[in-house]
Amino acid sequence: MSGVVLFSQNRLNGRRTVQISQRVAIVGRFLRRDWRSFSGYGNGTYNPFYSARFQMKLEQILFSQGFGSRKLCRQLIVQGDVAVAGAVCDDGATEFDVSATAADGNGFEFCVQAVRWQYHAKAYLMLHKPAGYECSQKPKSHRSVYSLLPAPLRERNVQAVGRLDQDTTGLLLFSDDGQYIHRMTSPRHEVPKIYEVMTSEAVTPEQVQRLIAGVVLDDSPDPVRALACELAGQRALQLTLTSGKYHQVKRMLAAVGNHVESLHRSRIGRLVLPHDLAPGQWRWLTAEEFVLAGTR
Ligand code: URA
Repeated sequence: MSGVVLFSQNRLNGRRTVQISQRVAIVGRFLRRDWRSFSGYGNGTYNPFYSARFQMKLEQILFSQGFGSRKLCRQLIVQGDVAVAGAVCDDGATEFDVSATAADGNGFEFCVQAVRWQYHAKAYLMLHKPAGYECSQKPKSHRSVYSLLPAPLRERNVQAVGRLDQDTTGLLLFSDDGQYIHRMTSPRHEVPKIYEVMTSEAVTPEQVQRLIAGVVLDDSPDPVRALACELAGQRALQLTLTSGKYHQVKRMLAAVGNHVESLHRSRIGRLVLPHDLAPGQWRWLTAEEFVLAGTR
């Protein structure tokens, strides 16, 4: 980790304040510059991983991070369930600097009922979606991917960035930033998504050519094309798409006379699903991963 968060306590204006200092490494500055060139999102100067010094009351911090109503947050604090830098803080009016942001995206940390949390002004996270979960808040026949996220994230109303079928596995992003979700899912921005496809029949060179040239699906006369399509075995393909129509991979393979047996999304933009993120696990995106996900 190149940005180290250090905690020190002092008294300021009669109020206990925690100052969070950090070494912002050169790589951090590089990432911020990189983010500014993340074209098409706002005016290109918005960086969710960096903000000017910003003091917030503990009560407000908990509320903003999805720990329930203001009353509930106050209760958690008063009953001694909240700790910062290893010390219980039972005064909801205590202010903390939540702006500190390390190069890896980690910010102000606190514990609620002994569980560690990071403050994030906006939520950007990744999940390794297992099979058998629907990308819906109200699933019909399987469990919801939202059930794999902790309650405060659901309370913050994070949404899946696009959808995967219940039997598809792999990389799924979530955010509570509507503008970000739009940018990442809009075909206009052409963020590539890479799928590892296992088919029931051997894939022919002609099928590969047709997937790249474009096939017409039943909902539109306009052909949909794979940005790239590589044979990875007799019955294995790596398919890159920049649009996300309903069942798109399955319908494209059906259109060329084959059938998808299993589907796994391994990459979004340049962000590869990390090997150490097991199916069903989630984690916050680092600043670097955030940029990678939006990079073609
Ligand atoms: N295409 C599909 O057919 N299913 C998915 O889950 C994603 C892309």
